Amino acid sequence: MDIRQKILDSIADTVAQKYSLSIDNFCPTQESSNGDYTFKSFALAKEHHLSPMAIGEEILSSIDKTGIVESAEVVGGYINFFLNKKVLSKLILQEILDNGEDYSKENIGDGKVVCIDFSSINLAKYMHVGHLCTTVIGNVLRNIYNFFGYKTVALNYVGDYGTPFGKMVRAYQLWGDNRDLDNLDIDFTQDLYIKFCQEAEKDDGTLDNEAREIFARIEKKDKEVYPIYEKLISQSKREAQRIYDMMGITFDSWRGESYYSDKMDSIIKELNDKGLLENSQGAKVVNLEPFGLGYSLILKSDGSTLYITRDLTACDDRYNTYHFDKSLYVTDVSQKLHFSQFFKIMELLGRPYANDLKHIYYGRISLPDGKIASRKGKQALIKDIIDYSINKTAEIVKNNDNLSQEEKEKISRAVGVGAVTFSVLKSEKIKDVVFDIDEALSFEGDTSPYLQYTLARCRSIERKAKYDGQEISNDYYNVTIT
Ligand code: ARG
Repeated sequence: MDIRQKILDSIADTVAQKYSLSIDNFCPTQESSNGDYTFKSFALAKEHHLSPMAIGEEILSSIDKTGIVESAEVVGGYINFFLNKKVLSKLILQEILDNGEDYSKENIGDGKVVCIDFSSINLAKYMHVGHLCTTVIGNVLRNIYNFFGYKTVALNYVGDYGTPFGKMVRAYQLWGDNRDLDNLDIDFTQDLYIKFCQEAEKDDGTLDNEAREIFARIEKKDKEVYPIYEKLISQSKREAQRIYDMMGITFDSWRGESYYSDKMDSIIKELNDKGLLENSQGAKVVNLEPFGLGYSLILKSDGSTLYITRDLTACDDRYNTYHFDKSLYVTDVSQKLHFSQFFKIMELLGRPYANDLKHIYYGRISLPDGKIASRKGKQALIKDIIDYSINKTAEIVKNNDNLSQEEKEKISRAVGVGAVTFSVLKSEKIKDVVFDIDEALSFEGDTSPYLQYTLARCRSIERKAKYDGQEISNDYYNVTIT
């Protein structure tokens, strides 16, 4: 429903035709003292060689004030319209009922493809609070794009490549006690990784060299170390999946960095052929100084590739696979330079889709001290935050005898996960935020539990009014809106 159309309809046809009025003549006001919608009569007055006041008065006197327009006034060259809130609410409510979940849906996207790279966790490591924003924001963007007729592709571009995996495998060999690789849990592998880092700090570089050497063997799919790496990866994916399940999130692809490890040659060659690569102490860089973006390191002096080398390669692959119209990357603001460099290089390479790449960034997120214990000096983990939130809710519903155990669990989950999701979304995206879970769980203020509570109250009103879910009768309408 376009409210402007309803306002236009309330003006007598003869007048509307005489001045060729259209919905574009009306716009919402900035100040409620000026009514809800306003109409500028200057241009019209000029065209008809009349004063704005005279036109205003003529239109005003033709308005039917028994419908959506309750009153109107001419102020200088404007006509201000005050709408009848009862009529308006009834129209909107009826429209919501008629359309259900499709209310306000529009096919803006018309099937255009949007790739959304979000969550994109580093495997074999804990999913910490920093990954919460990308996961929540990315998923919400996906829902919004889907709602408006786009075809979305959700990409979890997992970090499954690099020397950390050499370290992890080496740590397992040294201290893993031959633990069954099919039944590893993330706490165990994280402990091994931390031990490796601590030990490596003490020695003369031997461990780090070993890790590098093991990683090189992983790359070659060496029979001894590659299976260990694979198991670590799949255990970590299972762990992440558990969290995504709790949050109701799915992905269309988990293709990660390692997939591109042997596919980077052609883009490096192209950069070279197009004269974009420069030597810098044995390394290869792209000079982005003219664009205020410094130098972008593409190949290290030992020939190894970098995060950006893989992103450049993955970008072409995504275009060739999905033919995206837009490709979004959701990460925190600390990766701003990385994405600016990466997009600029795509532009310099002449990719027609370089302008369709967008970095969606947000401020860093942290927890107030001492709220949820972070593990071994690391950041708090998503699973701990969600568990804490669910458990706190469970505490509250525990003693409610009207609820079955199953209902209690359902409510704890809906309120617990909702609180976390909502509070991530409500913060101003670019600011660094302190995420206070107790505040997020509060029943007062701008929180998910308050919103969910309001919905439950509305449902209860519906039940009491014996509303049948169809047409809103005037009686019903008077019951609910007072
Ligand atoms: N794995 C990275 C991290 O945790 C994020 C990856 C974002 N996506 C990308 N295509 N670079 O920081």
